[in-house]
Amino acid sequence: MKRAASRFFVWIALMGCGGAATSPAPQMPALTALDDARGGRLFDHWARELGRTDFVPDARATAGVPDGQGGPASDGTLRLADGRALLNDGGHDYRLKNLLGWDLRGRAGLYGPAHMNKPYVVASDSLAWPGSVREVADRLERGEGDLPAYGDVLERHELEEIAAFVVRMRDGELPRAEDVFALTSPDAGHYALREGADGTRGVLLYAERCADCHGDDGTAILFDDGAYSLGSHARQKAYEDWLKILNGQPGSPMGRQVRGETAAEIRQEILDILAALCDRQIFPRGEASAEDVPDGDPRCGAYLH
Ligand code: HEC
Repeated sequence: MKRAASRFFVWIALMGCGGAATSPAPQMPALTALDDARGGRLFDHWARELGRTDFVPDARATAGVPDGQGGPASDGTLRLADGRALLNDGGHDYRLKNLLGWDLRGRAGLYGPAHMNKPYVVASDSLAWPGSVREVADRLERGEGDLPAYGDVLERHELEEIAAFVVRMRDGELPRAEDVFALTSPDAGHYALREGADGTRGVLLYAERCADCHGDDGTAILFDDGAYSLGSHARQKAYEDWLKILNGQPGSPMGRQVRGETAAEIRQEILDILAALCDRQIFPRGEASAEDVPDGDPRCGAYLH
């Protein structure tokens, strides 16, 4: 208590002499201060991260009829750059992660025709977008091609956070999906974790960072209406979970779980945790309803136990 109180007074004293009055007013917010983990959660599910109950996406079931709430036309659609409405056919719900995929690569990646073949995936590969954080934010603001204009529903600083996330991944400051897993064939479950993980370290990282919320064995929170434990989910959908570990779960108390300074360190933490979660004894399916993976499943590869 005593130490906390004295620190508090030091802080007041510093504030008093540093002073907003003497320092020049910032012209623009510093881009280095942008929270790219929040940008990643906005990329994943902006409406949930922001608690935006005013935006109800156009219903997927009623193809051709815009019938949601909110957005520029008050019908749950967003506009394309040319002004036409983008309907929610196929059920992308205007999430950037749906339009670009969990690897951010659009048609070139996981959601593209060679892999999961999602009908709504966009042509653009966001990791090939040139330019600065501001220029990428401009692109998201106005939309382009089959990517809608997010400027109608997101604030400029939110667009810049998403852009910081994309640009830092593009520029090698954050790991990419391809550093964590390789894309494989649809028969092999689409992906396989990369070699070089230390599952023993992953178990320790799990105990330190995840167990308080997810339980010692990952069964305290079940996902998808009780279908998966954390372990059984990670053994089948690590292409998704890698981004949750990197950025956190939108609209939940779970934030960024990695602490590395470099992309290589962060990649190692993610891979170690995912390899640990491949152990069916340590991280069982528990009461979850969906089947676990069989012996020999290629997604966990040699990490499967
Ligand atoms: C502060 C609590 C907390 C911590 C710490 C935490 N999580 Fe979570 N996590 C949650 C909550 C809450 C959810 C959301 C559950 C939901 O949306 O139904 C979640 C969701 C997830 C999901 C998403 C699953 C899905 O299908 O959407 C994954 C994967 C995940 N956590 C993995 C981890 C891992 C791995 C760690 C440790 C490195 C971790 N979490 C640490 C609370 C936490």
